[in-house]
Amino acid sequence: MKVVAFNGSARKQGNTSILINHALRPIEKAGIETEELSLAGSQIRGCTACYRCVATKDRRCAVTDDIANDCIEKMINADGIILASPTYFADMTSEMKALIDRCGMVSRANGDLFKRKVGAAIVAVRRAGSINVFDSINHFFLIGQMIVPGSIYWNVGIGREIGDVEQDEEGLQTMQVLGENMAWLMNSLAGKK
Ligand SMILES: Cc1cc2nc3c(=O)[nH]c(=O)nc-3n(C[C@H](O)[C@H](O)[C@H](O)COP(=O)(O)O)c2cc1C
Repeated sequence: MKVVAFNGSARKQGNTSILINHALRPIEKAGIETEELSLAGSQIRGCTACYRCVATKDRRCAVTDDIANDCIEKMINADGIILASPTYFADMTSEMKALIDRCGMVSRANGDLFKRKVGAAIVAVRRAGSINVFDSINHFFLIGQMIVPGSIYWNVGIGREIGDVEQDEEGLQTMQVLGENMAWLMNSLAGKK
């Protein structure tokens, strides 16, 4: 089994990545393969609303000059999907929104490609707006028939400069328990627990 984590931050090794890694550690410990993919520096544009995915139903986006189809492929091949974003103006980053719109539309056009996979949102924030990001990302999982595990708090880590989230003990504990619950759920769904 595999979990793929998409990092929507403009900073590859920033707070979002640190939080992702705290969640991935217990998942790896449970014997599940993990991969983090950073959207930073990659091209991904928003949905053009061409609806060609609805016509072709070939599990691909008709816009092929960016990373969207690679991301769809990664999601199809994973059993668990983490979408992680820092908070930008009380919302997710543009890159994460583009990823959700592109992958979400292709998924819906093909009978919910990620149905019954496990999904989790992770959010980095300096001060405010993170709950909006958390909620928005969960809309993607829940409209697509995905299964969402919880943790001891909403999956948010607090920090501004790179590394600041390491000081947010409760945030890190939230990531740890999220990872444990995600692994437990995935193993249970696979009949291994
Ligand atoms: C364009 C931009 C907008 C931001 N907007 C917010 C915001 O609305 N609320 C907040 O608390 N922090 C905001 N921040 C701070 C980041 O969420 C915070 O520094 C976070 O830890 C960055 O994660 P990263 O290191 O993974 O990039 C913003 C940062 C940037 C660059």
